[in-house]
Order: sequence, then structure tokens, then C-alpha cells
Amino acid sequence: MRIGILGTGTLATALAAAWTRAGHDIGIGGRSAERTQAAAKASGAQPRPLPEVAVGADAVLLCVHWEGVADILTAAGAPAGSLAGIPLVDPTNAVEHGVGVLRAEPGRATAQHIAALAPGAHVVKALHLFPSTQWTTPAPSPATVAMCGDDPRALEIVGSLVRDLGGVPAVVGGLDRARQLEEVAGFVIALAFAGVDPQSAIPAVPSSPPGGATAPST
Ligand SMILES: NC(=O)c1ccc[n+]([C@@H]2O[C@H](COP(=O)([O-])OP(=O)(O)OC[C@H]3O[C@@H](n4cnc5c(N)ncnc54)[C@H](OP(=O)(O)O)[C@@H]3O)[C@@H](O)[C@H]2O)c1
Repeated sequence: MRIGILGTGTLATALAAAWTRAGHDIGIGGRSAERTQAAAKASGAQPRPLPEVAVGADAVLLCVHWEGVADILTAAGAPAGSLAGIPLVDPTNAVEHGVGVLRAEPGRATAQHIAALAPGAHVVKALHLFPSTQWTTPAPSPATVAMCGDDPRALEIVGSLVRDLGGVPAVVGGLDRARQLEEVAGFVIALAFAGVDPQSAIPAVPSSPPGGATAPST
């Protein structure tokens, strides 16, 4: 696939490298030409100016700090429709670091905010829960990547990109569930900063088969 990456930081570079290794053609761009070159060199991706990142892409990853989301989407032409019809992966965490409180407006997911800034894009919330190192070092067991979105084809494409990272995709619902997934990141970050292993705070409950009628009781 052709994957466009908006952002040149730690997670953008890690995912660019992993998807390059999986055989995809990655174009990467950020607001700094110098950092774009460095991220491309480190990951094997092609450096691209922001207006060209989404051109011809099968999927686009939006991978910047929350404060930069509107700026980079604008520079990539998203408000004018450059991402229309394209799966747009959103791994951003608008979380108060160390506290875990979401900085997005109450009741609305950042993924929904992003969808409003990128008309026609098929936003998929995914890849926001695991640190970048999950995708750069061999994991002892595959990570389940909880994700949500409204477009079935976009979920399929992003699911296959998750599998290319060694993860297992798990769709929890439409974009109206994104706020819940984002709150989970806040929960995980808050516990990690409190010195607690977040996994130890999650009960082991039996899973029901897909479509099964019985929900586990907690
Ligand atoms: N790192 C992880 O393990 C991880 C895991 C899950 C989710 N995430 C999420 O992924 C996103 C990127 O995190 P990161 O750790 O890769 O951050 P990072 O290494 O600090 O990189 C941040 C990126 O955001 C860009 N940026 C910041 N403000 C901007 C603005 N106003 N306009 C345009 N670009 C701007 C930076 O550009 P400059 O270099 O030009 O400043 C850089 O490309 C965040 O939303 C984070 O919550 C990260």
C-alpha cells in the first residue's frame, strides 16, 4: 500500500519503519523539512512536502501532538478535501501528561474533531494505546489493537496495517466509541505515571465469542 504519514516524531518514525519493513511504500512529511529528511532516513520512507503526503495514498496516518493537528491537516489540504475517501488513522492522545485527563472538549472524541477538520476522510481511531517501542522491538505476544471507525473498508485496511505490525485488530464500534478508547489511553497513562503497571488494573474476564449473547459480568 501507499501510506502517507503526517508527522515526523517518535511514533511516526517507528510506524514508518515498521510498515516499510512490511513492504509498503511510505511518504512522510512534517512542518520541518530537516526533520522530514531525518525521519525519512531513519525509517526508509520517502520525504514529501505536506501538500503531497496524501496524494495517491491508500491510507494516511495523522501522527502529531494534539496542538499541531489542525495546523498539519490544513497544510496537507484536508479542509479542502485532500483526504476525502481515504482511511485516516488517528493515534493521537490529547492527554494531560502525567494526569491522564483528556484535553478534548467534553463529550467529543479528538477523532471526531479530526473528522470535522478532514471532510470525507474515513477516520479510524487506532494505535494510540501502545508506546512506539511496541512496533520497533519484537513483542513476546501480539498486541490487541482496539480501534473504531464508521467505514467498513477503512477498518479493513487499517486492520491489515495493524497485522503488518504484528498486532491483532479488534474493532469495538463506530467513531462514536472513539472517546471511550481515548479515555482508556488517559487511564493507562495516569496509572503508568503513578508507578502502577496498567495491565494489573484490568480484570481478567472471560471473553465471549464474536456476536455472542452473553456478556462477561464484572
Ligand atoms: N510516542 C509514542 O509512543 C506514542 C504512542 C501512542 C500515541 N502517540 C501519539 O502520537 C502523536 C505523536 O507522538 P510522538 O511521541 O511521536 O511525538 P513527538 O516525537 O514529540 O513528535 C511530535 C510531532 O508533532 C509535530 N507537531 C507538534 N506541534 C505541531 C504543530 N503545531 N504543527 C505541526 N506539527 C506539530 C512535531 O513536529 P516538529 O518536530 O516540527 O515539532 C512532531 O512531528 C501524539 O499525539 C501522541 O499522543 C505517541
